[in-house]
Amino acid sequence: MRVTIDRLGVQGDGLAQVDGVPLFVLGALPGETVEAVLTAPRGDGWAARTETVVADANPDRIAPICGLFGRCGGCSLHHLSDTAQAALKTDRIRRALQRQGFESVPMRPLAMSPPASRRRASFAARRTVKGVILGFHEAASATILPLEACPLLRPALVAALPPLRDALADILPAGGTVDLVMTESGAGLDVALIGLAAPTLPQRETLAALADRLDLARLAWALDATSPVESLAERRAPWLPLGGVRAIVPPGGFLQATAEGEAALLAGVRAALAGVPARAPIFDLFAGLGTFALPLAADGFRVTAVEGLADPLTALDRAARQAMLSVTTQQRDLERRPLLAAELAGAAAIVIDPPRAGAKAQSQELAASTVPVIAAVSCNPDSFARDAALLAEGGYRLDWVQPVDQFRWSPHVELVARFSR
Ligand SMILES: C[S@@+](CC[C@H](N)C(=O)[O-])C[C@H]1O[C@@H](n2cnc3c(N)ncnc32)[C@H](O)[C@@H]1O
Repeated sequence: MRVTIDRLGVQGDGLAQVDGVPLFVLGALPGETVEAVLTAPRGDGWAARTETVVADANPDRIAPICGLFGRCGGCSLHHLSDTAQAALKTDRIRRALQRQGFESVPMRPLAMSPPASRRRASFAARRTVKGVILGFHEAASATILPLEACPLLRPALVAALPPLRDALADILPAGGTVDLVMTESGAGLDVALIGLAAPTLPQRETLAALADRLDLARLAWALDATSPVESLAERRAPWLPLGGVRAIVPPGGFLQATAEGEAALLAGVRAALAGVPARAPIFDLFAGLGTFALPLAADGFRVTAVEGLADPLTALDRAARQAMLSVTTQQRDLERRPLLAAELAGAAAIVIDPPRAGAKAQSQELAASTVPVIAAVSCNPDSFARDAALLAEGGYRLDWVQPVDQFRWSPHVELVARFSR
């Protein structure tokens, strides 16, 4: 079917209308006329894939460097130049802010992570009659695409795929599936098998031997994404260097997707806090493992780190105590029990880095506070813009936004913003 693309959608597909039916065409860019093949129903319309560009190729189109582009569900923007991706993502933030009434916010140049920098990825595996298939899902499909190479991932992750695939042949039942979450830590690879039935003793032995053979730092498993993750073999505790300290990553714990992205977010937070007096008391809300709390404490700030989960907070506390950094930890659900404006009194600055849903309740309390500076980190421009509007209603000025891209070749974008009053 021949269609002309109007614009890019939020998932990086080229959007077109055919007789009023929306088409989401992977691999097509605005202005192009493409020959497209329908792949699956999607919402009110259809997902489709580009066969060929027939006319008016977009000037920002480049030749994809990945042979799986167009089929693999991992990336949707391999055909768009880095410059155009940066413009697209910056514009995505700008439009989200405009919808909330922010007309002209100074935007810093986007910081994009390089290829081969993703240190965590989630893969799918299925045992078939022809053996185990391990890779990413095909776009808009439950089919798993076998992965041999990937320009997105750290080389250590790619290198571990074939031996892991072979070992799963002894673990998975016929037709069985499992997700593999792999992280490259300072101590080596940390692998979690998610969606595995409780391993038998011989299977545990097989997996422990595999951990030895691949020199994994840790191999763990969980029944499903919401169940606790149990270590099968912990040969070295996986750690990340945060603020010059080794923070031990709990199984399944959150970490920024690339070291370069983490550095860019931290640089943005430090820039936002420039001028805040050294040794001043600050809060790090949604602190996780201490990506910001530990380096900021190493900078001299007296940090109170607040986080909902016990495991990362314990790891953060341990790392801070080992390095004798000034960090106090508090476990608290900040959505149900946000820190009240009165509790924030006396803080010289707040760092806040909520999950995708944002931090509505906490932002309402911040809006009522007297804290002079807020460094807001976000992985979702829409929830960020909603929370920014709450802060603006409370009298905060949005000074600038620093876009950060840890997910090149996808439409995903993150940011740091500075608010002051
Ligand atoms: C985007 S991560 C940021 C973590 C950390 N700042 C970092 O950069 O590594 C969001 C963090 O918020 C925590 N979290 C999610 N919901 C929460 C809640 N309702 N209350 C407190 N913490 C929460 C998660 O456990 C996670 O550690």
